[in-house]
Amino acid sequence: MAGCLTNESKLCSTYVHTLRPLAIVPHNTQTTNSMKPVHIALPDNVINPHSVVIRSEQAAMPERARHYPELRYMGSKTRLLPWIFEVLSLYDFESALDPFSGTGSVSYLLKSMGRRVASSDFLNFTSTVARATIENNHVHLEEPAVKRLLAPYPDGSRFIETTFKGVFYKPDDLRFLDRVSGNIRQLQNPHQRALAYAALFRSCLKRQPRGVFTISGDLSHYDDGRRDLRLSLEEHFLEQVEVYNAAVFDNGRKNQSLQSDVFDLPREKVDLVYLDPPYVPRSDDNCYVKRYHFLEGLSQYWEDLPIDTSTKVKKIAKKYTPFSYRRTAVDAFDSMFERFKDSKIALSYSSNGYPDLNILESLMQKHKKRVRTFEKPHRYHFGTHKGVERASVTEYLIVGS
Ligand SMILES: C[S@@+](CC[C@H](N)C(=O)[O-])C[C@H]1O[C@@H](n2cnc3c(N)ncnc32)[C@H](O)[C@@H]1O
Repeated sequence: MAGCLTNESKLCSTYVHTLRPLAIVPHNTQTTNSMKPVHIALPDNVINPHSVVIRSEQAAMPERARHYPELRYMGSKTRLLPWIFEVLSLYDFESALDPFSGTGSVSYLLKSMGRRVASSDFLNFTSTVARATIENNHVHLEEPAVKRLLAPYPDGSRFIETTFKGVFYKPDDLRFLDRVSGNIRQLQNPHQRALAYAALFRSCLKRQPRGVFTISGDLSHYDDGRRDLRLSLEEHFLEQVEVYNAAVFDNGRKNQSLQSDVFDLPREKVDLVYLDPPYVPRSDDNCYVKRYHFLEGLSQYWEDLPIDTSTKVKKIAKKYTPFSYRRTAVDAFDSMFERFKDSKIALSYSSNGYPDLNILESLMQKHKKRVRTFEKPHRYHFGTHKGVERASVTEYLIVGS
């Protein structure tokens, strides 16, 4: 099976396995851990070994991708980007689709690699971030627009202040959110709006202990003196506008951000699809709405998102995804691979997910001729600065071509 690894290749932090192993030492001047001399075996579709050497020499991740504004977000691949870059660089593609875009970090990597990128997620707030950073090639939030965003909003709604008083943030912060939300919706340019929202979401995540909206009320025991917990939301927002302005760049392509379930996306020809769905966890759940409902609500001022007022944290309804349940996950992967069978498929997966690696490899082999698995040991960090928990897992990229 394509997923079987040789002991030799297991020693490497990056490898491709195939029937034609070939030792190559990249002459890389910018040596990083993962770019140490490795035993690389070529994918079958690489005819000329020199092309691999040349690629290895060029295989420094675009600097820009290292500076993408990281969001504290479950399953974010920000720390894995250099490895994802190395693997994807082995394949030829001009256009890419990232239908589980989350923070947008992988879409941004692909954009930095000069590819035409379509980014999508079924949540509105994550798609909005991608509209600001992936789809947007030119627009910035300049000073006059920022001034308008901070100005009083006459007779504005106090929905956030009244709904979330005593739940999240301080009264001044909540009033700021009502005001800035009213003003953002007055901006005519969709990319300016998206930038302002992206800055607001990152501010809210920084200011919320543990970066999730499952905890509320008196959260002073989480206060470890961090600056992020001391700044007001308005102060954060001003900083984050600059951060997102700096992330805007033109890669010369017409990129796109969509909000859609993966199974409802328009069927358009694309060279490579990068898939990073949620996986059924061994314990707990993986519900994104449960953790980030406040940002999803904020992204549309809770319009058409009724709040369950009986919940302490004022949640909105969960969004169903078949990837979250044991009884539906295997079929969902099968249908998804079938749907994207005309493109190269790169699936991110983790050893602590369900279904197991060998099941996913078999499913991918049903739809793709060549399947290769790349792996990397990884540590996830959860929790506050004081009490950081770590989980050791193996991250996989299963690539079907
Ligand atoms: C593991 S995260 C992706 C992380 C992302 N690659 C990053 O680096 O931030 C999975 C994402 O899939 C989205 N999602 C879950 N089910 C979905 C579905 N059926 N269709 C589209 N998006 C979905 C979630 O909202 C979440 O943002």
